[in-house]
Amino acid sequence: MTTLTDAIRKHHQSLARTLKAHAQGANGDETQAERSALLSFLKGDLLPHARGEERHLYAWVDGVVREHGRPTATMMVDHEFINDYAARIEVAARRLETASGDERVRLMREMRELALRLDAIVELHLAKEERVYLPLIERHLDQEHQRQILAAIHESYEQEKKMPGDHALDVRNVVPRERHPLIFDTYASLQPGEAFVLINDHDPRPLFYQFQAEHSGQFSWDYLEQGPEVWRVRIGRPAA
Ligand SMILES: [Fe+2]
Ligand SMILES: [Fe+2]
Repeated sequence: MTTLTDAIRKHHQSLARTLKAHAQGANGDETQAERSALLSFLKGDLLPHARGEERHLYAWVDGVVREHGRPTATMMVDHEFINDYAARIEVAARRLETASGDERVRLMREMRELALRLDAIVELHLAKEERVYLPLIERHLDQEHQRQILAAIHESYEQEKKMPGDHALDVRNVVPRERHPLIFDTYASLQPGEAFVLINDHDPRPLFYQFQAEHSGQFSWDYLEQGPEVWRVRIGRPAA
């Protein structure tokens, strides 16, 4: 860390903390004083920060990224956040299936907040791709390349839909007494937010009850296909 990057990180922390405090307090019945505090933070802190970066930092960033970096790295960070929010929404939705009373109210509020935040991230992300990347592609990539990219995107999209980023564990040819240990070992190897797809030749209901007994609240269970010949279940470990 240098004096410059340290100062930027510290300012980011303070901007994020202040903005979060305003956002969390916001419920529609702010006082006049709270509203003007928010406005003066936006106009006196957040926007000048952005203008300062544009005027004095980004030209240098362009240079070092061109020389040493990868311009799409920032977009990959967006994707990471989008994945993370999707996982958190999935966890909240799953908990809502069984929650009641105060817990249910709290989870509904959390769902709404997560969805709004994801919406803001996606809105920004799509604007960046459409305003910055797509015009460059239109201008500088020939039609044949564009066709190839489109075909590759379609193909990986179709595969993901069949199996959303998860590896498959096909136990149809595994001897029955070894099936459950294998499945629990696979589950144990998952990082939070990861999942695998179990493929079996019968409905693995008994396994579900064993998961409930041993890993209550720490696993997700989604049927992707339910017979009559093949059963596919997505089993996951919720994001921490
Ligand atoms: Fe910044
Ligand atoms: Fe994207």
